[in-house]
Amino acid sequence: MIARRQLAIALAATLLLAPSLRSHAATAPTAPAAAQADAAPAAPPALYLGAAWYPEQWPESRWDTDLALMQQAHIRFVRVGEFAWSRLEPSEGHYDLDWLDRAIRAAQRHNIAVVIGTPSAAPPAWLTTEYPETLRIEEDGKRAQHGNRQQFDWSSPKYRELARAMAEQEARRFGHDPNVIGWQIDNEYANASYGPSTQAQFQNWLKARYGTLDNLNARWTTAYWSQTYNDWSQIPIETKPGNPGLLISWMRFVSDTWRSYQKNQLDVIRANADPRQFITTNMMGFFNGYNNDLVAQDLTMASWDDYVGTGQLNPVSNGAAHDLTRGFLRKNFWVMETQPGSVNWSPDNNPLNKGEVRAMAWHDIGHGADAVEYWQWRSALNGQEEYHGTLLGADGNPNPLYPEVAHIGADFAKAGPALAGTSVQSDVAILHNYDSYWAIDWQRHNKAFDPLATMIDWYGAVRALAHSVDIVSPSVPLSQYKLVVAPALNMITEAQARNLIDYVQNGGHLVLTQRSGMKNIDNGLYTQLQPGPLADLLGGHVAQFYALDTTIPVSGTWGTGPTKVWADMLTTTSPDTKVLMRYGKTPLGWLDDQPAAITRQVGKGRITYIGADLEGAPLAAAAKWMIADAGVQPEFGTLPPGVDLYIRKDATHEVWILINFGAAPQTVALPTAFTNVLTGTGGATVHTAALKQYDVVILQRPTSTPGGKP
Ligand code: GLA
Repeated sequence: MIARRQLAIALAATLLLAPSLRSHAATAPTAPAAAQADAAPAAPPALYLGAAWYPEQWPESRWDTDLALMQQAHIRFVRVGEFAWSRLEPSEGHYDLDWLDRAIRAAQRHNIAVVIGTPSAAPPAWLTTEYPETLRIEEDGKRAQHGNRQQFDWSSPKYRELARAMAEQEARRFGHDPNVIGWQIDNEYANASYGPSTQAQFQNWLKARYGTLDNLNARWTTAYWSQTYNDWSQIPIETKPGNPGLLISWMRFVSDTWRSYQKNQLDVIRANADPRQFITTNMMGFFNGYNNDLVAQDLTMASWDDYVGTGQLNPVSNGAAHDLTRGFLRKNFWVMETQPGSVNWSPDNNPLNKGEVRAMAWHDIGHGADAVEYWQWRSALNGQEEYHGTLLGADGNPNPLYPEVAHIGADFAKAGPALAGTSVQSDVAILHNYDSYWAIDWQRHNKAFDPLATMIDWYGAVRALAHSVDIVSPSVPLSQYKLVVAPALNMITEAQARNLIDYVQNGGHLVLTQRSGMKNIDNGLYTQLQPGPLADLLGGHVAQFYALDTTIPVSGTWGTGPTKVWADMLTTTSPDTKVLMRYGKTPLGWLDDQPAAITRQVGKGRITYIGADLEGAPLAAAAKWMIADAGVQPEFGTLPPGVDLYIRKDATHEVWILINFGAAPQTVALPTAFTNVLTGTGGATVHTAALKQYDVVILQRPTSTPGGKP
């Protein structure tokens, strides 16, 4: 596995230390018509540059200076209010939204649109004092206390009632405000609660899902270790280790509860807001404390907070997080927060290099983002995050990064028309589901088997050749893809298996890798060996799996290399299933000369299972083989080292974004003539692009065939 340890460390920084985990009825008046009508909204830009602004932390006399500085940097939106509950409802039922209205009007005067964050991630002290039952109960049974944020219990009916009332006030006041373009619900959903009332809700959830205890007991095989339940109230909350059926059910309950928590506010906003106002929440990339995909389904747009933490941007793993987020609703998304240089919560809070912030912004756009927002504009003078990167210093003046961000703003304004209406369109999909991630993570079997790193290894290998990859759930329609790769898709429901079988039978090429198709919907074992419900189609299966403490050679169609960590020993059951790779001889003995990768042509389609843990040249060769076999025809061969390419298109034209993340300058020979979007004049075309480190070149050309295929 390529640089798995490094990747794991990098991901730990972004996942485990995800910012918010560090922690740190009266009738609403409607908006005064005069206040809303005082300025017509400017035409919305195609690409939005934004900043997280906290007007409640500053005297109003300062607002105009801040907004003027934002306007100078081409900042076109601010997100406000997501932690301002104590200012919006200073005491129960007494709302004060006038200051927010004034902030929205002030922004409007500077041609800056507003996204309102509902403040439920930070309940005020009066609320948790009056209603202590709204405070989250930690896994160790202790109740969270006031003084930080995210101390609420997401399953508490009282908390939901109060959060909804607050959101309703805001939606009634600003739901038709011309300068409000969207809503962010809460902020970085993260923490569940583990108290008795949540447990009772979980038990009811199980009752609704399983119907009878006999059914639940059978599907979880509770006869094992005498776990059999004869009353719903006996079922505990279990996070790890525990019965696999109980574990997966808890995570599904957590996810459903976030969804209903979100819907509680979403419905009241939707009922009071113009349809043109989007509703999103800011997710956290690979954070897997709940099923992000499921929760995103009720939103009008996905968004996420993109923090590098320690080190420099890794375009592959970071790109995968973008593509994962884009895959939830299979359309463009927003980067709702990103670091202006550095963060404050990593073990080492180094800044991004000069030029890297701009390169990263274009990397975001290349992956399908239509907005990039910097968190935050100016640091509060006290509070938990005094050291975090900002665009202004504590003195209120621009810091050294400000001109680079203003450069991004100028770029966005210039390139916006070319990118308007374009999206990422891929021939290749990587499948990802949270069930598989959790199932493997609870039972890694070899601690070095990291399901996320496995996905990213395959993503990187195919993306290097195809230049564009979607990451989607195995439940979505797949017919648009020529190649679908399912890395370690451990849990496949019967409906998902049907979807995959149909895909292959209709001519698609499906590649499954290690540990795929082992688990059923209850996190139990399929009685057909893996890939379980896909084994008949494959004409083969995994005869035995091995967690490795030694390196095994593997060789065949994709050359020779080592396999470490894991080996699935395959066997064929159909005469037309071909062996592509075999394991070599080692003292282990079991794997000697056994199949390590097999494939079967099915009509015009193909299904392949790769049992070896490929890395290096064989991994790259396998990716090349599947791309060619599936008929994916990228226009470009391998790009120079360090250079990344992103393509966005619509039916008439396509935009190529080239970025050089490497230290060495590179020149890229283009396959056809392009116009340079940022620097071109008078329709002049170019055939090459020269890029020093962190340079960004944006190119445009007509799409030569309808539907976006050049
Ligand atoms: C998160 C939060 C922000 C802020 C930043 C700082 O993304 O949403 O409120 O805490 O982290 O890293």
